[in-house]
This record gives sequence, structure tokens and C-alpha cells, in this order.
Amino acid sequence: GKSGYDHYMLKEIHEQPRALRQCLQSRVDELGGQVTLEELGDINPSSVQFVACGTSYHAALYGAQLLQSVGIPAQAFIASEYATSVPPIGDNLVIGVTQSGETADTLSALREARRRGARTLAVTNVVGSTAARECDDVLYIRAGPEIGVAATKTFASQLVTLSLLTLQLDGEEDNREAIAGLRDLPSNVQAILDDTKAKEIAEEYHDSDAYFFIGRGLHYPVALEGALKFKEISYEHAEGFPAGELKHGPLALVTDNTPVFAVVTGDGEQARKTIGNVKEVEARDAPVIAVTDGVSDVERYADHVLRIPECTPRTAAVLANVQLQLVSYHAAAQLGRPIDKPRNLAKSVTVE
Ligand code: F6R
Repeated sequence: GKSGYDHYMLKEIHEQPRALRQCLQSRVDELGGQVTLEELGDINPSSVQFVACGTSYHAALYGAQLLQSVGIPAQAFIASEYATSVPPIGDNLVIGVTQSGETADTLSALREARRRGARTLAVTNVVGSTAARECDDVLYIRAGPEIGVAATKTFASQLVTLSLLTLQLDGEEDNREAIAGLRDLPSNVQAILDDTKAKEIAEEYHDSDAYFFIGRGLHYPVALEGALKFKEISYEHAEGFPAGELKHGPLALVTDNTPVFAVVTGDGEQARKTIGNVKEVEARDAPVIAVTDGVSDVERYADHVLRIPECTPRTAAVLANVQLQLVSYHAAAQLGRPIDKPRNLAKSVTVE
């Protein structure tokens, strides 16, 4: 049942600390700085292509950036576009990211990859699913069953699983700092779940014309995911953009009635540039909600702040997303939407 929550979605959002603990369980050696994904064995790809749909595609975009950051060329493809968009790939690795393991578009991209000679890996939540059975290897995200149509805890578990995969493939001997960041993640997520600010923001803005989400680097997939979740359960117009793209068109839509959620963590180059984009929307009188760890001065330009604990850059994406999940949930609740079964959507999409 829903264990006292009004919706499965809210229950599953609150299950994230536990889901992430399960995901990490017996896979990390904190003292030695090592990650061991037992089901994978020896795997050492020279390059990687991800195929996935929807929320899982956002996780794939994140995974591709992580692999690139450790020197492994990687690219994420929307599964339904894969067959027509890539050259043959020889003996490289194709990773299908699919919560259900049954998404037709993803299964057919994986089959195409096999035909082209690739080794395939399923990153999935469901033991014995079609993707798990058909791929050469399988890596489980261990989130537990997800009932709500909107993917929430499984997205967090996908991000953490892809972080673990990156650490295992990384040539570095010592990943102690990254592992400590992952270890702290469940309690950092819990701190966000105890915060009521997202609900206040949903109450204040649920009647707006449209909602925009911006971020750079690892926060770009978070912006896309924030918008997808928002539109699918609230039925309001929401779009996610790479922060730098805003000025190349979408800015025309920004008004004093279009809240902009900006994900900004740390105070590096990317933060500085996104703050520049925040100033552009502020100049158009858009309400700005900064999702931030408070390290940069983005708060000076924001109307509201959704705070996340200070953490490593990789885990910041997971935490920022939790704040945005809560905003979507509470906005949809305000609007009286059928949150666990939004119109026109199915939990697993078995047609192409
Ligand atoms: C959004 C959502 C969908 C799925 C997509 C892929 O909340 O749930 O976008 O992410 O249909 O599903 P899986 O991961 O099962 O392949």
C-alpha cells in the first residue's frame, strides 16, 4: 500500500534514501577506495553508447558525461532514434538504461546494437526483464518496485548505478572521495525530504503560464528531468534547456509569469555562466528559483532558493533532482491531478 502517503509517487520519493543505500550495499569499499560491481566481472570498453527513453535517457546523458570525465568516449542516444543515427560500432559497449527492462524502443535499439556487433549491457530495475535476459551483461539498480507512473526513485538509483559503473571503469586506483560522496547521499537526500520549501514554491507558482528548467553540464539532464516530471504529472507546459541555449530562442517565452528553475552548484565556471543566464531571465522579470548548495552567489539573483547540502558535483545532480521532484509533486497535487496515473501514459511502453 501507500504506507500513509497520499500517492505512490510521494511514497517513492521518500523511499530514495533506502533505495540508494540498497544500490550501494556491498558494492563500495570505502577504506580502499574501490568499487566492485560483481555482476559485471571484467569489462573494459574503449567506448560506450547509451540507448534509453524518457527519464532513463536523462540518466543516460548523465552517465555519458561521467564516462567522458574519466576518459572513456561516450554518447547517449534516444533509443527510438538510434537505428537511423549511428554508424556501425564494432566491438564497443552499448548500454541500455531501462527501469522496466520492457520498453520496446530501448529493446529494439539494443537488438540493433547486437546486430552491429556490440556487446550489450542492461542497466535495469527488474530482475528477469526482457532487457536483462537479452543483453550480454546486466547491472541492477536495486531500487525496489516502483508503482507510480512517474519515475522517481528509479532515476536516483540509475544515476548512482552509473556513478558506480564509472568508478569501476575509471583507471584511478583511489576513488575514496567520490565514494564518500555516494555514502553521504542517502542522508543528504533525507535532509531535502525534511525541507518544506518545494511545497511552498509549488503553492505560490502552480498557476503560471509555463515553467522552465535550466542547468549546465551534469545539471543539464537534471533540467530535462525536472521539466519532464513537471509536465507529465501537472499537465502544465514545462521545458528544460541547457542554460546557455536559453538566449538562442526560448528566452522569447520568458515573462513575469514563467518561473525559471536554475540548478547551480559549486562556484566554478559552469556556475558562473549559469548565473549569467539567470540574470538574463531576471531582467525579463521571470521569477527565479535557484536550486543550489549555496556555494555561489546565485541567491542574490533568485526570488527563492531550494537548498541542497554541499556535496560532490556528481551527487549534486541527484540532490537537485529530489527538490524538483517535490516541486512537481506538490504542483500536481495543488492542481488536483491523478498523480500516480497521469493521462495518456503507461508505466512501461511496449510499442515502438
Ligand atoms: C517518466 C517515465 C518515462 C520512462 C520511459 C522509459 O517519468 O517514467 O519517461 O522513463 O518510458 O521507461 P524505462 O526506463 O522503463 O525504459
